[in-house]
Amino acid sequence: MSALTAIDVRVELPGGVLAVDGVSLHVSAGGWLAVLGPNGAGKSTLLRALAGLIPYQGTVTFEPGPAGRGRRELARILAYLPQRPMLPPELAVRDYVLLGRTPYLGYLGVPGAGDRNLVEGVLERLELIGLAGRRLGTLSGGERQRAALARALAQRPRVLLLDEPTTALDLGHQQQVLELVDTLRREDGLTVVSTLHDLTAAAQYADQLVLLDRGRTAAAGGPAEVLTPERIGAVFRALVSVNTDTSGKPAVTPVRPDAAATHADAMSTLRDHRPPQNP
Ligand SMILES: Nc1ncnc2c1ncn2[C@@H]1O[C@H](COP(=O)(O)OP(=O)(O)OP(=O)(O)O)[C@@H](O)[C@H]1O
Ligand SMILES: [Mg+2]
Repeated sequence: MSALTAIDVRVELPGGVLAVDGVSLHVSAGGWLAVLGPNGAGKSTLLRALAGLIPYQGTVTFEPGPAGRGRRELARILAYLPQRPMLPPELAVRDYVLLGRTPYLGYLGVPGAGDRNLVEGVLERLELIGLAGRRLGTLSGGERQRAALARALAQRPRVLLLDEPTTALDLGHQQQVLELVDTLRREDGLTVVSTLHDLTAAAQYADQLVLLDRGRTAAAGGPAEVLTPERIGAVFRALVSVNTDTSGKPAVTPVRPDAAATHADAMSTLRDHRPPQNP
């Protein structure tokens, strides 16, 4: 279990783009924070900064933190699943997932029976046993995504950073993956930070949301606080209705303006809610 705190994180990308502009967040051990926002808002950049993969200003701390300052020590507490993982096409799924054990291997780098058992367990939980001998290059998009998640879980992290973990998955596998992560969170105290485009899923699984707009925090708090139709209209330029589902969580549904007049009204509503553009 580890808590994660980020204070005033800023990331300037090549060309002077300020992709993350003063974002602060705190996730308690065993908590789930979802980072939301439109394309280009800075979600992936923020996650890469939290993972220590790109230079940033500000502070990111884990409590308790890694045992040392090296990447190996960090990899024992933190796993990061990129939005578009690069998978070596010739490698078999099982061998790739076994790479998740690398931070724990001894001098000779040979995985032991314990590592192999753990990997089999993860493959089973993600329904990948039947694909374990297949080369990564032959997998479908959703299968690739599950294989990449399996590798991250094989790392047995205390903090898991997931960048759009469900985009390529069908509905059943989306639910399976999110439920699995939630189970690990409840049973093992795994701390989760995920980006998600599915706002309803974010509300169902995360206890805290951070909504980014052009690198800045537009809203933060519980799902019902953050996910209002006005705010979604302003930040995503989308027309939605927000209802409460059976568990009391907000459920976001796109609304299609069904007539030209309604559409004109809707667009003017969106314009009214749009924050001023940067010069
Ligand atoms: N290496 C780079 N050089 C210059 N600009 C970059 C670089 N990487 C990202 N950007 C820009 O930074 C901004 C934020 O990108 P980022 O990938 O963090 O967005 P995002 O919120 O994850 O979007 P999406 O929902 O599409 O995944 C974008 O405008 C993007 O074009
Ligand atoms: Mg992204």
